[in-house]
Amino acid sequence: MTAILRTEQLTKWVTSGEQRIDILHPLDLQIQAGESVVIVGPSGSGKSTLMSLLAGIDAPSSGRIWLEQQELTALDEGELAALRRGTISFVFQDFLLLPALTALENVMLPLQLIGAEAPREQAQARLAEVALTARQHHFPAQLSGGEQQRVAVARAYASHPRILFADEPTGNLDAASGEQVIELLFRLNREQGTTLVVVTHDERVAGRAQRRLQLDAGQLLELD
Ligand SMILES: Nc1ncnc2c1ncn2[C@@H]1O[C@H](COP(=O)(O)OP(=O)(O)OP(=O)(O)O)[C@@H](O)[C@H]1O
Ligand SMILES: [Mg+2]
Repeated sequence: MTAILRTEQLTKWVTSGEQRIDILHPLDLQIQAGESVVIVGPSGSGKSTLMSLLAGIDAPSSGRIWLEQQELTALDEGELAALRRGTISFVFQDFLLLPALTALENVMLPLQLIGAEAPREQAQARLAEVALTARQHHFPAQLSGGEQQRVAVARAYASHPRILFADEPTGNLDAASGEQVIELLFRLNREQGTTLVVVTHDERVAGRAQRRLQLDAGQLLELD
């Protein structure tokens, strides 16, 4: 198997006055292509920080990150943004759909950004996979939390990313909607071969992944 994502002595710290606060201690991690990985750990242990670094949204304090042969930590912001587009997708706890766009338009947007063919038809196909064809012309405010998160999952998968990061995707959902969203994430991981990295407090999610990692005060442990 080949690593799709690899870090070497990755750290993150912030300074507050004279004090340095270490958020992530030097961290070496490899994630294989197609793998499903769950990251668990207490609040404040650095899970969201690690995801942002791996997704190239935030810059580390030191250390290096590779996405296949490409060193992310050697790219400037414009190059990173170009690389992320169509390669890396994110699903957030609070959905973050664009409120002025319909469900369909939200899913079409990343396809339009990469110049995909037939963005409308592709977006409709993704919405059908999350069982929301009937709601495609509704705005986010007209949808339930679970429905909005399914739109967010459809949007995240629309551009056929190599890696999908999800940070507490079920955190704002009730048990039944959460179950549907988890089912979807893992089904699409299986069917599309997308590498899936999920941060969660949710035992059901942790149990579904091929691999479990734990962060504890910025230190990474491999579970199992
Ligand atoms: N910009 C920042 N300035 C200062 N401290 C920060 C900053 N960003 C994160 N932190 C701190 O780093 C630690 C890790 O934060 P992070 O958001 O990664 O935790 P988390 O594991 O995702 O927690 P949660 O489960 O509550 O979402 C926390 O103590 C947080 O307060
Ligand atoms: Mg977090």
